[in-house]
Amino acid sequence: MQQTAVSATPFDLVGGRDVVGQIVERFYDLLEQDPAYAELRALHAPDLAPMRKSLTGFLAAWLGGPRDWFDEHPGLCMMSAHRGVAMTPQVGRQWANAMSRAITESPVEPVLAAKMAEALSDLAIRMAA
Ligand code: HEM
Repeated sequence: MQQTAVSATPFDLVGGRDVVGQIVERFYDLLEQDPAYAELRALHAPDLAPMRKSLTGFLAAWLGGPRDWFDEHPGLCMMSAHRGVAMTPQVGRQWANAMSRAITESPVEPVLAAKMAEALSDLAIRMAA
């Protein structure tokens, strides 16, 4: 029996760049609005617009979508992107919590949303351990 190749990436399954952008917008809106993320917000520049664009591009690539973020940031990796950032377990937990909320509130299908939130939370917690 002939099998049909399944080529959908996680990027396709979450709904593409529009939905990734929606998650990132919500993530930085939460940082700006909710005092629970005050320490994490304070680590960022006053203008979050460049971060909204950069994190959207990074997550698109991380999910198996277009890799233009890597072309636009040659040689940058997650470690070098955070060189000089005062990572503490507290801000790691804030990052994980805000991102999980942003993903949970998005239109991503709940099982996939839970996996995505868990993977990114693990990453943030480990980066800041
Ligand atoms: C663990 C807790 C984390 C903290 C405290 C943190 C903090 C920061 C800060 C302060 C910046 C620079 C912001 C600015 O210039 O305004 C930054 C940049 C960035 N972060 Fe994080 N971050 C964390 C985790 C993550 C994770 C898990 C990801 C990806 C999944 C990520 C992706 C990025 C990207 C893509 C940039 C921008 C790089 C660039 O365009 O130069 N961060 N982060």
